[in-house]
Amino acid sequence: MPTGAASGPSRDCPLCPRLVGLRLSLREQHPAWFNAPVPSFGDPAARLVIVGLAPGLNGANRTGRPFTGDYAGDLLYRTLLKLGLATGEYRADPQDSLTLVGCLITNAVRCLPPANKPLPEEIAACRPFLTGQLDALPSARAIVALGRIAHESVVRSRGGRLKDYPFGHGAPHTLPGGLRLFDSYHCSRYNTNTGRLTETMFVEVMTAARDFALA
Ligand code: URA
Repeated sequence: MPTGAASGPSRDCPLCPRLVGLRLSLREQHPAWFNAPVPSFGDPAARLVIVGLAPGLNGANRTGRPFTGDYAGDLLYRTLLKLGLATGEYRADPQDSLTLVGCLITNAVRCLPPANKPLPEEIAACRPFLTGQLDALPSARAIVALGRIAHESVVRSRGGRLKDYPFGHGAPHTLPGGLRLFDSYHCSRYNTNTGRLTETMFVEVMTAARDFALA
């Protein structure tokens, strides 16, 4: 396990040369941006964990908080506020008053990948941080995986075999160790624009996960 797996990667994590190269060039182009592995955000007593894919260029990679500053975050944080899983105001800025209540957001990959597509070896290199994060949440009961990559990394991080856990929007699974996993299509602009994911579908799966986690 890499150093700091429980607490997350260091700002200069060296594990993925391609992602380090992108990080260094963005630090030159945009010195005021965060440009580093993005830490988890939320409640250390979380009963519900939301696992995204990876930071977006103008979202988490710029602001330093998962899903903060991009389209996917608008839908995610609006839904969390609607379901009572967040309080305060989301203003797409880590300095806003948004607080997560009983939930925590993390990513399968902590660094910005080119074209939002991490390579299999990058997903694998970052998995110990996901494992460390999940292990550090003793109250967690349920996980929402946003998209197939998050789903597969969560299954592997819990020691499951992918063939026993087929990804499907709305599909609940019980993972080795007992956590309940709810799958959702990723709340990206692409998926909502193409109609693969509607806001109603997203709210439904998040409601099911919340109700299980808080019961
Ligand atoms: N921002 C994140 O932090 N994760 C995603 O999966 C998408 C946007």
